[in-house]
Amino acid sequence: MKKIIIANWKMNPTKLADAKKIIEGTKKIAKKSLSDIVVCPPFPYINLLSGSKRPFLGAQNMSFEKEGAFTGEVSAAQLYSLGVQYVIVGHSERRAMGETSEVVAKKACAAIQSRISPIICIGEKERNQNAEHWQEIKWQLVDSLQGVNKTNIKKCVIAYEPVWAIGKKSVGPMNPADVAESAIFIKKVLAEMFGPQIAEGVRIVYGGSVDGKSSKDIMRAGGVSGFLVGRASLKPKEFEEIVLACSAK
Ligand code: 13P
Repeated sequence: MKKIIIANWKMNPTKLADAKKIIEGTKKIAKKSLSDIVVCPPFPYINLLSGSKRPFLGAQNMSFEKEGAFTGEVSAAQLYSLGVQYVIVGHSERRAMGETSEVVAKKACAAIQSRISPIICIGEKERNQNAEHWQEIKWQLVDSLQGVNKTNIKKCVIAYEPVWAIGKKSVGPMNPADVAESAIFIKKVLAEMFGPQIAEGVRIVYGGSVDGKSSKDIMRAGGVSGFLVGRASLKPKEFEEIVLACSAK
C-alpha cells in the first residue's frame, strides 16, 4: 500500500516568512518521495500551497455546514476550491475542545462529498490495567465513521494517535509492538464494519512524537502505512528522515 506522511503544523509557525521556508524545504522532500506527502498548514498559510500535489495540500479542520451564517468557520467546498485534497478531522486537540465523534462523522461525510479525503483521528486518552482503551478506540472509530459507506471508506485515512504520546509534555512515542497491536485492532473493527477486503485497503497511520528515529522503528514493526507528524514536520531535516523511513524496504 502506498505510504502517506502527513504534516500537521498545528498553530505554527508564527510568521509567514517562516512558513514559506518550511514549505520550500518540504517541497524538495516531496519531489523525491514515492509516498504521498500531505502538508496541513494553519488556514492563513493555505494559499502558499494552493493546488499543490507534491506535497498535497491539507487542512487541519473544517465545518460540516455547507455555507451561510457560521462566523469563523470554513467549508469543505471552500477548501476544495483552493486545491485542498485532505482534511484532518477529530484531532484529539479538537476533541478536547468538545468535538464529539458524531460531529467528526458529519465532517468526514461533508469532506467526502466535496471530494476531499478525511484523515480521521482516533486514540485513547490513557491506558490502564483494565484495558478500557480498546473500547474507547472501538467506539471512537465506529461513531466517527457513521454515514461512511463501503465505497468512500477507501478515501479515508485513519490516524491512530494515543493522546498520551502527543506533544512536548508526553512520555514520547508508543513502542512499535504496541502500535502494531493497535493497528491490527483498528483493522479488525474496520473489517467488522466494511468487510475484510475493504478494511485491508484503508490506510492506517500512527501519530504521537514521531521523529527521525522512532519513525524507522515503527515503520519496521508497527504495521502502519505512514505517519501523522506534529513538531517534527516543522523541521524539514527531521521530516525528511521520517519520509525516508517510509521508503525503506
Ligand atoms: P507531535 O508529533 O508533536 O507529538 O504531535 C502529534 C500530533 O498530534 C499530530 O497530529
